[in-house]
Amino acid sequence: MINAPLGTSAPASANPSNTALNSVSDNSRMPGFYDLPIEHRWASLLERGLLTEEELARLVYGGLTAHVADGLVENAIGLHALPLGIGLNFTINGRDHLVAMAVEEPSVIAAASNAARIIRGGGGFCAEVDAPIMTAQIEIRGVEDIDQATRAIEGDEPSLLELARAAVPRLVERGGGPRTLEIRAIDQGNLVVHVYVDCRDAMGANLVNTVAEAMSGPLCALAKGRPGLRILTNLTDRRCVRVGARIPFGLMDTPARRGAEVADGIAAASRFADLDPYRAATHNKGIMNGVDAVVMATGNDWRGVEAGAHAFAARTGRYRPLAVWHVVGAELHGALEMPLALGIVGGTTTFHAGARVALRLMGVTSSGDLACIAGAAGLASNFAALRALATDGIQRGHMRMHQRAVAHGLALSPPDSKAAKIQAI
Ligand code: MEV
Repeated sequence: MINAPLGTSAPASANPSNTALNSVSDNSRMPGFYDLPIEHRWASLLERGLLTEEELARLVYGGLTAHVADGLVENAIGLHALPLGIGLNFTINGRDHLVAMAVEEPSVIAAASNAARIIRGGGGFCAEVDAPIMTAQIEIRGVEDIDQATRAIEGDEPSLLELARAAVPRLVERGGGPRTLEIRAIDQGNLVVHVYVDCRDAMGANLVNTVAEAMSGPLCALAKGRPGLRILTNLTDRRCVRVGARIPFGLMDTPARRGAEVADGIAAASRFADLDPYRAATHNKGIMNGVDAVVMATGNDWRGVEAGAHAFAARTGRYRPLAVWHVVGAELHGALEMPLALGIVGGTTTFHAGARVALRLMGVTSSGDLACIAGAAGLASNFAALRALATDGIQRGHMRMHQRAVAHGLALSPPDSKAAKIQAI
């Protein structure tokens, strides 16, 4: 089932509490932004009404305080910061989005923005996302008669699902909840029941684990078995995003090469990844540069996303690329498919002010919107990496950015009084 594509839902600016603000830029092109001193970038975001002073202050200092951190994890002693930047030039399903990206690796944000600029020339990204279905796994051990157990569980499916719904009443009120179940025999005497739960705008780990624990007893009774594990799977293959891009050759011309040659090089690099798991791992790392940066900026669980992405990449029995590129006529076509279980409510977003501001800056109004943006950032990063590899190699651009970071780092000084004032807000 496909959700409404990104951009068809009401913009966040429709929210009465945000009426004074453009909560999303209607133009993700901000030429020259890259060259501005950081203070001028702040001023530009304020002038455009994309952030309030208070939001900016929260972002500048990471959106989390040591005291909030103390309530979150054990033995807290401080915070671990990462740079937060904006990916520019993204058009997704005909609508522009600024893309919040938290990442320490130089060149990731510049490369994704540059790729998005080229891709917007071909019409931008198209993206679609599955309904937000997560999977609970309930393991039943010591089942003597698998056929009897299967029949008993299948026969009781409606009341089992009723029980599952009763475990997550607030999710059901919001229009989500357990939808169906499936029985899988994974070994002699070992059954696993999958319960598929629509988590709406939450990532849903806690909801799904609650369902799994509530259903274990009744399922074991029906199967005449013993309880095993009761937990979500991070292989969230019912919650995938698919992103495409079409780039006319002419948009890839460089002073040294024709676009057709660049496109052939990118398609050949994609074939290499399809044939060789060693290359596919690095190819997918390049995709995750973009995906993880969005996942982290928005306070989502990047370990879960990583686990799901790589399990999905290996689902055919061979580890393969999450995105592929082909030459079609006089265009290069790219397509990415991967599971992306992201939330915009609950979890980290509840207490991480920076994550909430990042979501508002991007103008996302559903977990599906966020998955489309993260997927587009992944495909953009992949295109940028393959284009560099197929032409000059990555070292030239990468090292230039790295040296810039080092030079900047050496010049870093403690916050000045103006910054300290912002911190106090
Ligand atoms: C570096 O962070 C990512 C790349 O290695 C990805 C790739 O090789 O496709 C450049």
